[in-house]
Amino acid sequence: MILDNRKGLPYIASPEAQSTCHATKQHIMKGELDTAISAAKKAGSLALQSFGSLNQTEIQPKDYKDFVTDVDKACENCIASEISRAFPQDSMLCEEGYVTSGSSGRQWIVDPLDGTLNFIHSFPVFSISIALSGPDGDLMTGVVYQPVLDELFTAEKGKGAFLNGNPIRVSSRLDPEHFLIATGLPFKEYHYLDAYVSMLREVIHGSAGIRRAGSAAIDLAYTACGRFDAFWEYKLFPWDYSAGVLLVREAGGIVTGFNGDSAIGNHHSIIAGTGATHPQLLDMARKHFREHLQMNRES
Ligand code: IPD
Ligand code: CA
Ligand code: CA
Repeated sequence: MILDNRKGLPYIASPEAQSTCHATKQHIMKGELDTAISAAKKAGSLALQSFGSLNQTEIQPKDYKDFVTDVDKACENCIASEISRAFPQDSMLCEEGYVTSGSSGRQWIVDPLDGTLNFIHSFPVFSISIALSGPDGDLMTGVVYQPVLDELFTAEKGKGAFLNGNPIRVSSRLDPEHFLIATGLPFKEYHYLDAYVSMLREVIHGSAGIRRAGSAAIDLAYTACGRFDAFWEYKLFPWDYSAGVLLVREAGGIVTGFNGDSAIGNHHSIIAGTGATHPQLLDMARKHFREHLQMNRES
């Protein structure tokens, strides 16, 4: 049974999405990584077609300060049909509601458009994020695609991380005065705003600069390839970070929750960095978010 995970209703792909995404009419058997790449690139083309020309009727409120567009939905339909056709035995967890259960124990975790607010504002930073976790919950495959730059970040467990086919590594910078650190600002929940701002103040003192790009998947991909020295954000969902976490780890980086736990499947807080930056950010997070961690509101 396929359910819309927000409304508990049967999920039906829109006619528009069914016609725009030609999910391999003549299907050639591909492996997991190639399937994820193909799906991400098709979704990326869909997004680019509408980028900069979205009109108000294509934007719907989903929650307080949280929006979805027809493009998010079309991308999700495209990715879901491509993946479920190739791997019908796997389950799927997609942000905009496509959720299926499968018999394999494996799960695809999909953010069809990460950076929706940027997309709505024609700010050219958004991505498609697709991950596969195995029966033990370990991340097996991760793809983050940034269509505006045609940059494809890929990783498979134990096989390294790549940008457009070239191996990538996390940064080797050691001097905080040179660190460029990415973050996600609180925007709709405020109970941790003070903790966040006090940590931000400390990171400002301990870095050359901070960026808030607006796509957690890109923040993680850029950490994996050394553009950023680290990334932290308190409230995220598995579709935001799963692919990016595998990228960072396969590129030699470290990822944990704010409590230091590396089993991040259940965590909504993320610290990703290098051997130099991760311990520093983790110390700060434990200090500034101590109350929240003790109350076990978030890990
Ligand atoms: C958002 C982006 C953003 C992060 C938010 C996410 P969306 O995802 O990743 O950078 O700060 O927490 O919700 O809604 O654009 O897919
Ligand atoms: Ca997201
Ligand atoms: Ca999204």
